[in-house]
Order: sequence, then C-alpha cells, then structure tokens
Amino acid sequence: MDVFRIEGPVRLSGRVPVNGSKNAALPIMAAAILAEGQSSLVSVPNLSDVRVFVELLKSLGCRVERQAQGDMLIDSTVIDNPVGDYEIVRKMRASICILGPLLARCGRAEVSMPGGCAIGDRPINLHVRGLRQLGAEIHLKNGYVIAEAPHGLTGASIFLGGSFGSTVLGTANVMMAATLARGRTVIESAACEPEITDLANCLNDMGARISGIGSPRLVIEGVGQLNPVRYTVIPDRIEAGTFMVAAAITNGELELTNCRLDDMMAVVDKLRSIGIAVESKGDGCTVVGTGKIIPADITTQPYPGFPTDLQAQFMALLALAQGNSLVIEKIFPDRFMHVAELNRMAADLRKEGPAVVVAGVEKLVAAPVMASDLRASAALVLAGMAAEGTTTINRVYHIDRGYERIEERLNPLGAKIRREKAP
Ligand code: EPZ
Repeated sequence: MDVFRIEGPVRLSGRVPVNGSKNAALPIMAAAILAEGQSSLVSVPNLSDVRVFVELLKSLGCRVERQAQGDMLIDSTVIDNPVGDYEIVRKMRASICILGPLLARCGRAEVSMPGGCAIGDRPINLHVRGLRQLGAEIHLKNGYVIAEAPHGLTGASIFLGGSFGSTVLGTANVMMAATLARGRTVIESAACEPEITDLANCLNDMGARISGIGSPRLVIEGVGQLNPVRYTVIPDRIEAGTFMVAAAITNGELELTNCRLDDMMAVVDKLRSIGIAVESKGDGCTVVGTGKIIPADITTQPYPGFPTDLQAQFMALLALAQGNSLVIEKIFPDRFMHVAELNRMAADLRKEGPAVVVAGVEKLVAAPVMASDLRASAALVLAGMAAEGTTTINRVYHIDRGYERIEERLNPLGAKIRREKAP
C-alpha cells in the first residue's frame, strides 16, 4: 500500500483542469447496459473506482476498452451473466446501479448487497421499493438482491424520498429501469444532483423520453428500445471543490478550467462567506485566498444544498478559521472519520452527534494520519499542505478511488507530495 509524504506549509498557484465526474461516469457506464451495441463515453476519469466498474461490466458480458485518446468504448451487445458478484461489488458500493439497467434489459438481475463503508450504512431499501413498484419481484438471498421481471416492467408513480431526503443512485436505478417500462413513470422526490441530470440527458440521447430533468419530479415515458450513444461526461464538481479548498487553505491562487460554477452555487457561496475570492473565468474560475479564513456554519443537504462530499474538505479549511464553526452532516451522520485524524494534526474539533464544533486554531502541525473514506482522505491531503512539517498519510488507495494521481496534479502547482511504498 502506498503512503503520501506531504511537506507543508506550501502556497499553491497556477492552473488546473478539472476531470470528468466520477459520480456521473459510473451510472452512465451502467446505462450502456440498456442499449445493445457499442457506446463511447468521453471524459471518463481514470480512477480505481472506474476500473472496478469496468471489471464489473466485463463480468456481465460487456466488452470494454479505453482508447488512446481516453474515450471509453462499452459494447453491451452480449449480456450473458446479469450478476454483480460480491467480490467486485464489495470494492465499490456504486456497483448497485447496475440493478435497474440489468432488470430492464434482461428481465432479471442478481447484485450483491453493497454493505457498509467508512461513511456509514449504505441501505438500498428505496432502490428496492422503487423497482418493486415498477413490477419487479425482488428478494434477498445470501447477501444478494435477486430481482426478476419476466414479463417486463410497467410504469408507476413512485415516491422515492427517504428519511435522509432523496437518493442519488436510487434515482439512477429507478429512472434507468423506467426508460424501458411499459407506459409512464413518475418519480417524486427524485435526486436533483447534476450527475443525475447528466445521466438523464445521456438516456434521452439514447432515445429515452425523460422530462422534468433537474427537478425533484421526473416523468419517464417508456420506450421499446434504447440505442448506443456517444456522450461526454460533465466535470467533477467534487474534485473542483477540493481544488478550490486547496487554494483557500494554502492562501494560494488557482485557476480551475473545465469547471461548471452553475453546479456549485452552494459551495461557491460558502467559500465567499469564508472570505475566499471566487470569480468566474472562461470555462472555469479563479479561487484566491485573501489571508483570512472566516468561520462559517455548514449543513450538508441534498442538491442544491451543500454537498456531503465536500464536508470533510471544508472542515479542514475551517480548522484554521479565526473563530468557531459548526458542521452538521445530514446525509451520512457518521461521516466524520476525518475528525480524529485532523485532531492529530492539532485541529480542535469536537463531535457532538451529527455535528462537529470546529474551534479555529492558528496552525496545523504535521503528523502520521490514516486515510479512510475517499473524501476524508482528500481532506487530509489539504491539511497536510497547510500544516507545518511532513505529514504521512497511510492507505492512499482511498484517495486514488476518486482522484486521478492527485499528487501529479498538485505538485506542479507548488505542493510537495511524495508517493512512497509503505514499508
Ligand atoms: C451518491 O451515493 C454518491 N456516490 C456519494 O458520493 C454521495 O455522497 C451520495 O450520493 C450523496 O450525495 C455516487 O454517486 C457513486 P444516496 P448514494 O443514496 O447514491 C440514504 C463519493 O464520495 N439511503 O443519495 O449511494 C443513505 O443512507 C460518494 O463520491 C437510504 O436510506 O447515496 C444516505 O443517508 C460517497 N435508502 C442518503 O439516503 C436507500 O435505499 C443519501 O444516500 C438509499 C439511500
């Protein structure tokens, strides 16, 4: 396993392009299952999560290849094994989003339950409820979800909200299944995340008939078949937000290209309230530290609210604010694996149930820390760049799941990150 050695403090400056969105690419890769033939996807990031998903698609019978210029070709002419095997699914929870497309395409699917992970439970009761309302017979056996619809699916009116609001991949699963159902499906309390909008746009390019895109109420008129597509994935707003915090926490100045500020209004609003200058520029923006970090309160919410996937990164920033902040996690209440690790770096964070009181400190101090979930690990990289001394981050594979060789993107901007093999 690799470790990162990060020297700090540094000040970042320069230009960095934002990659395609992991969380848009994964369900769009699953959507290729719905159409017989070869689809080509552009701007799919080269991440370990994506490589796991490729392994999963191949296990179903698809042919998948990466072209020289980076496009991903997915040929789903043959799907002869509609089974998402535990050995693959356990590596990546998002694998569950093959359930809906397999059910619609093959009339049956077996997918291993995702199980829990570092950010907490990952239930799929809403996925199951929505697919059952489309007529699927679903039962659980030996840790697998067994779904069958031998006579196809039938459109229905489905309320998909749960106790934590909408479900992103639950919306993806039900929406994808509904595209090939007989008749009309209405999904109320659908997720509005830009990644779901991107998936819906891709499905419509494949011949689906989805309206209400971007709203909590999706209407899907079932069609007889979908066609392969060539589609470009949207930029990754969470990677962009991570780079924005990198500029802020190092009191630096970055220009982000291929970054859609329209998808990040809650994030930009919060950065500005913290005293960071964010200005639109070309197809991206500039982010400039202003020498001060103003305390701010953050509550994570479904889109368009503040994204849970940036909670850890902003907590690292607020750890250096001139005063106290409050961070409340409403989506994954246990998503605080970074708190203890940041405290090892002399942050002053106190967890109170689903909230953390962040008492700003003058400086962070380097320490050996442990990566855990993907975004908590990114927060440790950010803290390491601001801390005095050399921070060691263990289990860097967590970071590689969602950020493509992050050290090769940050070092040209002034970071000092060495990737080493753990002893
Ligand atoms: C997606 O996960 C993202 N992953 C997550 O990003 C992100 O944190 C999450 O949405 C919330 O925005 C991908 O898109 C691949 P949910 P998803 O279903 O769809 C509860 C990252 O770092 N819930 O929207 O699995 C659930 O427990 C990852 O890139 C149910 O109760 O999340 C949570 O509290 C981490 N029943 C809330 O809903 C269900 O059936 C939101 O979960 C499904 C979810």
